[in-house]
Amino acid sequence: MKTVIFETYEQMCKFASDIICDVVRAKPDAVLGLATGSTSIGVYKEMCKQFGNGLSFAKTRTVNLDEYVGLRPDHDQSYAYFMRAHLFDKVNLEKNNTFLPCGTAPDLEAECARYNALLDRLPRDVQLLGLGSDGHIAFNEPGSPFDSRTRVVELASGTIKDNSRLFDRLDDVPRFAVSMGIADIMSAAKVVLLANGKHKAQAVKAMLTGKVDPSCPAGVLQLHKDATVILDKEAACLLQ
Ligand code: GLP
Repeated sequence: MKTVIFETYEQMCKFASDIICDVVRAKPDAVLGLATGSTSIGVYKEMCKQFGNGLSFAKTRTVNLDEYVGLRPDHDQSYAYFMRAHLFDKVNLEKNNTFLPCGTAPDLEAECARYNALLDRLPRDVQLLGLGSDGHIAFNEPGSPFDSRTRVVELASGTIKDNSRLFDRLDDVPRFAVSMGIADIMSAAKVVLLANGKHKAQAVKAMLTGKVDPSCPAGVLQLHKDATVILDKEAACLLQ
Protein backbone atom coordinates (compact mmCIF):
# COMPACT_ATOMS: atom_id res chain seq x y z
CA MET A 1 0.00 0.00 0.00
CA LYS A 2 1.35 3.41 -0.95
CA THR A 3 0.69 6.39 1.35
CA VAL A 4 1.04 10.02 0.31
CA ILE A 5 0.57 13.00 2.61
CA PHE A 6 -0.29 16.51 1.44
CA GLU A 7 -0.58 19.90 3.10
CA THR A 8 -4.02 20.72 1.73
CA TYR A 9 -7.27 19.01 0.80
CA GLU A 10 -7.07 20.57 -2.67
CA GLN A 11 -3.69 18.91 -3.29
CA MET A 12 -5.08 15.55 -2.14
CA CYS A 13 -8.03 15.85 -4.51
CA LYS A 14 -5.86 16.85 -7.47
CA PHE A 15 -3.61 13.83 -6.87
CA ALA A 16 -6.60 11.45 -6.68
CA SER A 17 -8.27 12.97 -9.72
CA ASP A 18 -5.04 12.65 -11.73
CA ILE A 19 -4.91 8.92 -10.98
CA ILE A 20 -8.54 8.46 -12.07
CA CYS A 21 -8.27 10.70 -15.14
CA ASP A 22 -5.09 8.91 -16.26
CA VAL A 23 -7.06 5.66 -16.21
CA VAL A 24 -9.73 7.27 -18.42
CA ARG A 25 -7.09 8.69 -20.80
CA ALA A 26 -5.50 5.26 -21.20
CA LYS A 27 -8.87 3.50 -21.49
CA PRO A 28 -11.80 5.75 -22.43
CA ASP A 29 -14.37 3.04 -21.65
CA ALA A 30 -12.88 2.36 -18.20
CA VAL A 31 -15.13 1.40 -15.31
CA LEU A 32 -14.77 3.82 -12.39
CA GLY A 33 -15.88 2.73 -8.94
CA LEU A 34 -17.17 5.92 -7.32
CA ALA A 35 -17.75 7.00 -3.75
CA THR A 36 -19.88 9.57 -1.97
CA GLY A 37 -19.23 11.55 1.20
CA SER A 38 -17.85 15.04 1.58
CA THR A 39 -14.24 13.90 1.06
CA SER A 40 -14.95 12.93 -2.55
CA ILE A 41 -16.47 16.29 -3.52
CA GLY A 42 -13.09 17.90 -4.28
CA VAL A 43 -12.05 14.92 -6.41
CA TYR A 44 -15.16 15.35 -8.57
CA LYS A 45 -14.46 19.08 -8.81
CA GLU A 46 -11.01 18.28 -10.22
CA MET A 47 -12.46 15.69 -12.63
CA CYS A 48 -14.90 18.36 -13.87
CA LYS A 49 -11.91 20.65 -14.46
CA GLN A 50 -10.24 17.93 -16.51
CA PHE A 51 -13.46 17.61 -18.52
CA GLY A 52 -13.26 21.38 -19.10
CA ASN A 53 -9.71 20.83 -20.34
CA GLY A 54 -10.88 18.32 -22.94
CA LEU A 55 -11.02 14.94 -21.18
CA SER A 56 -14.04 12.98 -22.41
CA PHE A 57 -16.09 10.60 -20.28
CA ALA A 58 -18.39 9.73 -23.18
CA LYS A 59 -17.52 6.03 -23.06
CA THR A 60 -16.69 5.76 -19.36
CA ARG A 61 -18.85 3.61 -17.09
CA THR A 62 -19.32 4.32 -13.36
CA VAL A 63 -20.45 2.06 -10.55
CA ASN A 64 -21.17 3.50 -7.11
CA LEU A 65 -20.42 1.93 -3.76
CA ASP A 66 -23.68 2.30 -1.92
CA GLU A 67 -27.08 3.91 -1.36
CA TYR A 68 -29.28 4.53 1.67
CA VAL A 69 -32.28 2.23 2.03
CA GLY A 70 -35.51 4.20 1.78
CA LEU A 71 -34.24 7.33 0.01
CA ARG A 72 -35.56 7.86 -3.48
CA PRO A 73 -33.02 8.99 -6.11
CA ASP A 74 -34.52 12.52 -6.01
CA HIS A 75 -34.06 12.87 -2.22
CA ASP A 76 -31.36 15.50 -1.65
CA GLN A 77 -29.43 13.20 0.70
CA SER A 78 -29.56 10.16 -1.58
CA TYR A 79 -26.27 9.16 -3.12
CA ALA A 80 -27.91 9.20 -6.56
CA TYR A 81 -28.67 12.91 -6.04
CA PHE A 82 -25.13 13.54 -4.75
CA MET A 83 -23.57 11.96 -7.83
CA ARG A 84 -25.73 13.99 -10.21
CA ALA A 85 -24.96 17.21 -8.34
CA HIS A 86 -21.20 16.73 -8.12
CA LEU A 87 -20.32 14.81 -11.29
CA PHE A 88 -22.90 13.21 -13.56
CA ASP A 89 -24.66 16.45 -14.55
CA LYS A 90 -21.36 18.29 -15.02
CA VAL A 91 -19.45 16.06 -17.42
CA ASN A 92 -20.35 14.10 -20.55
CA LEU A 93 -21.01 10.77 -18.83
CA GLU A 94 -23.91 8.94 -20.49
CA LYS A 95 -26.66 8.55 -17.87
CA ASN A 96 -27.16 4.91 -18.86
CA ASN A 97 -23.47 4.25 -18.18
CA THR A 98 -23.82 5.29 -14.52
CA PHE A 99 -24.92 2.73 -11.96
CA LEU A 100 -25.94 2.90 -8.30
CA PRO A 101 -27.82 0.46 -6.11
CA CYS A 102 -31.47 1.42 -5.68
CA GLY A 103 -32.39 1.98 -2.04
CA THR A 104 -36.12 1.93 -2.70
CA ALA A 105 -36.33 -1.31 -4.67
CA PRO A 106 -39.41 -3.25 -3.51
CA ASP A 107 -37.31 -6.41 -3.15
CA LEU A 108 -33.93 -5.43 -1.70
CA GLU A 109 -32.55 -8.97 -1.85
CA ALA A 110 -33.23 -9.05 -5.58
CA GLU A 111 -31.67 -5.59 -5.90
CA CYS A 112 -28.46 -6.83 -4.23
CA ALA A 113 -28.37 -9.83 -6.59
CA ARG A 114 -28.89 -7.50 -9.57
CA TYR A 115 -26.05 -5.27 -8.39
CA ASN A 116 -23.68 -8.19 -7.81
CA ALA A 117 -24.36 -9.45 -11.34
CA LEU A 118 -23.66 -5.91 -12.62
CA LEU A 119 -20.35 -5.81 -10.71
CA ASP A 120 -19.37 -9.16 -12.21
CA ARG A 121 -20.01 -7.68 -15.65
CA LEU A 122 -18.20 -4.42 -14.93
CA PRO A 123 -14.90 -5.04 -13.14
CA ARG A 124 -13.60 -1.72 -11.81
CA ASP A 125 -10.39 -0.31 -13.30
CA VAL A 126 -10.11 2.04 -10.36
CA GLN A 127 -12.11 2.36 -7.14
CA LEU A 128 -12.34 5.67 -5.25
CA LEU A 129 -12.94 5.42 -1.49
CA GLY A 130 -13.48 7.65 1.52
CA LEU A 131 -13.01 6.47 5.09
CA GLY A 132 -15.55 6.35 7.90
CA SER A 133 -14.32 7.52 11.30
CA ASP A 134 -14.85 3.94 12.51
CA GLY A 135 -12.75 2.55 9.64
CA HIS A 136 -15.66 1.69 7.34
CA ILE A 137 -15.37 1.70 3.56
CA ALA A 138 -18.56 2.08 1.53
CA PHE A 139 -20.99 1.07 4.31
CA ASN A 140 -18.97 -1.96 5.39
CA GLU A 141 -18.95 -1.38 9.12
CA PRO A 142 -16.52 -3.03 11.57
CA GLY A 143 -17.20 -6.78 11.60
CA SER A 144 -17.99 -6.95 7.86
CA PRO A 145 -16.55 -10.17 6.43
CA PHE A 146 -13.74 -9.77 3.90
CA ASP A 147 -15.60 -12.04 1.46
CA SER A 148 -18.79 -9.94 1.61
CA ARG A 149 -20.58 -8.81 -1.52
CA THR A 150 -23.39 -6.32 -2.10
CA ARG A 151 -26.01 -6.69 0.62
CA VAL A 152 -28.28 -4.76 2.95
CA VAL A 153 -26.25 -3.52 5.91
CA GLU A 154 -27.17 -1.83 9.17
CA LEU A 155 -25.30 1.41 9.84
CA ALA A 156 -23.30 1.71 13.06
CA SER A 157 -24.60 4.30 15.54
CA GLY A 158 -21.41 6.36 15.11
CA THR A 159 -21.93 6.45 11.33
CA ILE A 160 -25.54 7.57 11.78
CA LYS A 161 -24.30 10.33 14.07
CA ASP A 162 -21.48 11.36 11.68
CA ASN A 163 -23.82 11.47 8.69
CA SER A 164 -26.62 13.25 10.60
CA ARG A 165 -24.83 16.57 9.99
CA LEU A 166 -26.29 16.45 6.49
CA PHE A 167 -29.87 15.71 7.58
CA ASP A 168 -32.35 17.94 9.44
CA ARG A 169 -32.65 15.53 12.36
CA LEU A 170 -30.78 12.46 13.62
CA ASP A 171 -33.99 10.46 13.18
CA ASP A 172 -34.04 11.28 9.47
CA VAL A 173 -30.81 9.35 8.82
CA PRO A 174 -31.62 5.96 7.30
CA ARG A 175 -30.62 2.98 9.47
CA PHE A 176 -29.83 0.69 6.57
CA ALA A 177 -28.02 0.87 3.25
CA VAL A 178 -27.33 -1.28 0.22
CA SER A 179 -23.54 -1.52 0.08
CA MET A 180 -20.96 -3.17 -2.10
CA GLY A 181 -19.04 -5.71 -0.05
CA ILE A 182 -15.37 -5.81 0.88
CA ALA A 183 -14.71 -8.46 -1.79
CA ASP A 184 -16.24 -6.16 -4.42
CA ILE A 185 -13.96 -3.30 -3.37
CA MET A 186 -10.89 -5.53 -3.31
CA SER A 187 -11.57 -6.81 -6.83
CA ALA A 188 -10.88 -3.36 -8.36
CA ALA A 189 -7.57 -3.24 -10.25
CA LYS A 190 -6.56 -0.05 -8.45
CA VAL A 191 -7.86 1.55 -5.25
CA VAL A 192 -7.53 5.20 -4.20
CA LEU A 193 -8.62 6.14 -0.67
CA LEU A 194 -8.72 9.68 0.71
CA ALA A 195 -8.99 10.81 4.31
CA ASN A 196 -8.55 14.28 5.72
CA GLY A 197 -8.99 15.91 9.12
CA LYS A 198 -8.19 14.96 12.70
CA HIS A 199 -11.45 13.02 13.14
CA LYS A 200 -10.10 10.41 10.70
CA ALA A 201 -6.66 10.03 12.34
CA GLN A 202 -7.57 7.05 14.53
CA ALA A 203 -9.14 5.16 11.63
CA VAL A 204 -6.13 5.99 9.42
CA LYS A 205 -3.75 4.59 12.02
CA ALA A 206 -5.81 1.40 12.39
CA MET A 207 -6.05 1.02 8.60
CA LEU A 208 -2.32 1.40 7.94
CA THR A 209 -0.72 -0.10 11.01
CA GLY A 210 -3.35 -2.30 12.65
CA LYS A 211 -3.85 -6.04 12.37
CA VAL A 212 -5.67 -6.95 9.16
CA ASP A 213 -9.04 -8.17 10.42
CA PRO A 214 -12.69 -7.12 10.15
CA SER A 215 -12.46 -4.83 13.20
CA CYS A 216 -11.11 -2.18 10.79
CA PRO A 217 -12.66 -2.83 7.35
CA ALA A 218 -10.31 -0.38 5.57
CA GLY A 219 -7.31 -2.36 6.87
CA VAL A 220 -8.06 -4.96 4.20
CA LEU A 221 -6.40 -2.56 1.74
CA GLN A 222 -3.06 -3.64 3.21
CA LEU A 223 -3.69 -6.79 1.14
CA HIS A 224 -4.45 -4.95 -2.13
CA LYS A 225 -1.67 -4.92 -4.71
CA ASP A 226 -2.34 -1.40 -6.03
CA ALA A 227 -3.83 0.76 -3.28
CA THR A 228 -2.92 4.41 -2.72
CA VAL A 229 -3.91 6.17 0.50
CA ILE A 230 -4.00 9.96 0.23
CA LEU A 231 -3.96 11.93 3.48
CA ASP A 232 -3.55 15.40 4.85
CA LYS A 233 -1.27 16.06 7.82
CA GLU A 234 -4.14 16.00 10.31
CA ALA A 235 -5.40 12.60 9.22
CA ALA A 236 -1.79 11.35 9.32
CA CYS A 237 -0.99 12.86 12.74
CA LEU A 238 -1.00 9.55 14.63
CA LEU A 239 1.42 7.86 12.22
CA GLN A 240 5.12 7.65 13.06
C1 GLP B 1 -20.34 7.48 4.21
C2 GLP B 1 -20.09 6.71 2.92
C3 GLP B 1 -18.64 6.31 2.79
C4 GLP B 1 -17.74 7.51 3.07
C5 GLP B 1 -17.96 7.98 4.47
C6 GLP B 1 -17.06 9.15 4.85
O1 GLP B 1 -20.59 6.70 5.32
N1 GLP B 1 -20.91 5.54 2.80
O2 GLP B 1 -18.41 5.81 1.49
O3 GLP B 1 -16.40 7.14 2.88
O4 GLP B 1 -19.30 8.39 4.56
O5 GLP B 1 -17.69 10.36 4.57
P1 GLP B 1 -17.02 11.77 4.57
O6 GLP B 1 -16.15 11.81 3.37
O7 GLP B 1 -18.17 12.71 4.47
O8 GLP B 1 -16.26 11.90 5.83
